Order: sequence, then structure tokens, then C-alpha cells
Amino acid sequence: MEKYIINGGNSLFGNVDVQSAKNSVLPILAAAVLTDGEVKINKIPHITDVHNMVKILSRLGCKSVFDGDGLIIDSSKADCHEIPSELAHELRSSVFLLGSVISRFRMAKIAYPGGCDIGLRPVDLHLTGLKRLGVKISEESGYIVCRCEKLKGNEVMLDCPSVGATENIMLAAVKAEGTTVIRNAAREPEIEDLQKFLNMLGAKVRGAGSGSVYIEGVKNLGGCSFTPIPDRIEAGTFLITAAMCGGKILLNNAGAENLSSLLHKLRENGCKIQVFGDKIELESSKKLYSVKSVETQPYPGFPTDLQAQFTALCCVCRGHSIITENLFETRFKYVPELRKMGADVTVVGRCAFVRGVDTLRGANVVAHDLRGGAALVSAALSAEGRSEVFELSHIDRGYGSFEYKLRALGGDIVRVRV
Ligand code: UD1
Repeated sequence: MEKYIINGGNSLFGNVDVQSAKNSVLPILAAAVLTDGEVKINKIPHITDVHNMVKILSRLGCKSVFDGDGLIIDSSKADCHEIPSELAHELRSSVFLLGSVISRFRMAKIAYPGGCDIGLRPVDLHLTGLKRLGVKISEESGYIVCRCEKLKGNEVMLDCPSVGATENIMLAAVKAEGTTVIRNAAREPEIEDLQKFLNMLGAKVRGAGSGSVYIEGVKNLGGCSFTPIPDRIEAGTFLITAAMCGGKILLNNAGAENLSSLLHKLRENGCKIQVFGDKIELESSKKLYSVKSVETQPYPGFPTDLQAQFTALCCVCRGHSIITENLFETRFKYVPELRKMGADVTVVGRCAFVRGVDTLRGANVVAHDLRGGAALVSAALSAEGRSEVFELSHIDRGYGSFEYKLRALGGDIVRVRV
């Protein structure tokens, strides 16, 4: 077990290289099961979600080799259609493998997935979509078991624009017979990235980024070398942290076009933001104004994955804010921890009511999930005095070299064994 020791109060200055998007890389790794060709993913982020996904791929018989900043995957000898519970529980994205494993083996057996405990997170839309393509699904002692003779393209209408369900159905449809159309598809940039990757393998997918994705089944796929888009959530976390701490930072490989909703709010807070090509510069005097209300929404709305970090920021803005979480039910678990630091936040149902204070105080706090954990680190860096942040395994799921990057900006943060 490890913890961070953070001495808050330093302003942040300098450059950060943004990692590749976790939420692009995970479905792309799942997609690698579809092909016998060699796949190279460049700029792979070293986060535990990726390492766990690689472990699952190796269980399926795929060979993966880290090569410099890339990962090479050869699925030509894949021979297993089962993902056991000890691996699936580590990683919610294991559910994305249903689509590609059923496509490859006509069978898939996957234990119910794990991931952040941020609400119910059902997989009903994934399963309904797969059924529309001809998959028979049963549940056998904690496993989802899928069988089909062949996959056949069809129209799939999603009740809500689920990111994971859209991606899973895309993966199942790529080598199905005929054409699949996903209506009310999620429009997240990571879905466009998956489309780009699949098309580089030889698939015929179009429409990602709009509400309808069209997939014309193909017989064979080849290999490719692919660089995923920047991680807009990691980028957003650094921008919010610098806004709270004050200072001036420059993000390289930032993907500003996918961060409009956050940049808009940060400007309202009083931060100076400039975008130069793939770089974002943020300057903050630390004297921030509250934004009246923020609501999480599917893309292009404000991302639920930045809700916790932005709430932490509201805690040190002058005035009141209301933050509404519309996607996941229990995504305010970090709030009692922020209160230990002197934050004035009250949660009622899906809303957090925040009254800004001049400054937070250092405290010992526990990360309960990935983004909530990052929010606590940002709060501790901006606070007066010493904090300890426990349960770093949550944070390590999504942020590679987090403390190194923060230290390079001037943050006083070290990781120690408990
Ligand atoms: C993905 C992201 C996660 C992000 C989320 C929302 C990955 C690896 N993870 O998660 O970081 O927070 O999108 O942007 O990309 N739902 C159902 N039934 C289903 C599936 C989803 O009701 O079968 C509901 C969920 O409970 C939630 C909403 O749909 O309320 C959105 O979830 P979804 O978009 O599926 O999130 P994930 O794909 O799990």
C-alpha cells in the first residue's frame, strides 16, 4: 500500500505532456482481438487499467510486448474465450471484450466487470445490442455467457448513449455479415478514435461522433500502427489543478478541441486560457470566481470524469456553485474527504452545493475512486499545510507518472509506502 504526502501551497509552472487517452486505449486493446495482423499502439499510457487489460489479452492467448513507448499485440494465436472473475473484477473495460471475443470465437464467457464503484453501471444496453446481432446470452454463476452461430448486422437503438455499449456493438459488428447501424450512439471523441483504428485495420465504419454509427461487415482485418488521441480527462485534471494552485502551465498534445466544455468554465472562473495548435496554456492568479452551475452530460457536455476535480475547484472559488451529476449515482464519495480539508460542500441527491472558502487546509484523506482521488490530490496541492492521500491504487488506474508530472511543475508531492 502506498500514499502521497503533499505539502500544499506551491504555484505550478512549466510544461506537461498529456498521455494517450485511457478511454481510447482500452477499447482499442479489446479491438486487437479481432485481427490476426500485428497491431502497434504508440504512446501507450503506463496505467494499471492498461496493464490489467494486457493481462486479460494474454489470458486469451494474445502476445503483447512493450516496445519503447509503444505496445505491440499479436492476436494470431488467440485461443481462449473466457475471462475469469479475478481479472474482470480489476477492470470494467473487460466488458468491451464481449464484442470482439464473440466475433472471434462465436463464444464468450466473461465474469461481471469491476472498475470504479460510482453507481449501478449496468451492462443491459451492451447485451441488448449484441442480441440484435444474433448473440444468445445467458448468465451462469456470475458469468455472462454469449454464443452465436454467426453475427448478422442489424439496427440497434440505444436507450441512452452509452459509451461502452456503442463501442462493444461496433466491435461485434465489424466482422458481422451485412450492415449494422447504431442509433443514439455515444458521441465521445474516443468512439471516433476507435472508428479510426478499426478502419486502419481494414474495417468499414463511419458516422462515429454523430448520433448514428454505420458498420459494414468485412471478412478480414489486417494490422496497423496507431497513435490514440490525447487524454482529455488527464489534461483537464492538470488544468484544474493549476487553476486551483495558481501559476502558468502549458499542456503539450492537449487535444483542446475535445475540452471545450471545461475551457469555457475555466474562463468563467477567471483563468486566462490560450490555445496554440495542440497546446493549451493556462494562467491563474488563484483568485477565482464561482460558476453558478455545472451539469455533467454525455459529450459534448461537461464530462462526468471531470466532475470531482471541478467540484474541488469550486471549493476555493468566491461564491456559490451547484454541481449536478447526471450520469452516475454515487459519484460524490470524495466529498466527505474534501470536507476534512475545510471545504463547504453539501450533497443532496444528484447535486453538490458548494460555498467557496478562501483556502483549504491539509488533512489525511482516502481516495475511493479514480477521479475522486485525483480531485483530492488537486485539493491537497492547493491547500495550506500537509496532506496525506491514501489508496493510490485508484489513482494509478488512470494517471501515469502522476506525481512526477506534478513535481516537474513545482508541486511538493511524494509517494511513500504505508
Ligand atoms: C465510459 C468511460 C467512463 C466515463 C463514462 C461516461 C471508458 C473505459 N469509461 O464508461 O470513464 O465516466 O463512459 O462518459 O470509456 N448505462 C446503462 N446500461 C448500460 C450501459 C450504461 O444504463 O448497459 C448507463 C450508465 O449507468 C450511465 C450511462 O449509461 O448512467 C453512461 O454510461 P456509459 O456511457 O456506458 O459509461 P461507460 O462506458 O461505463
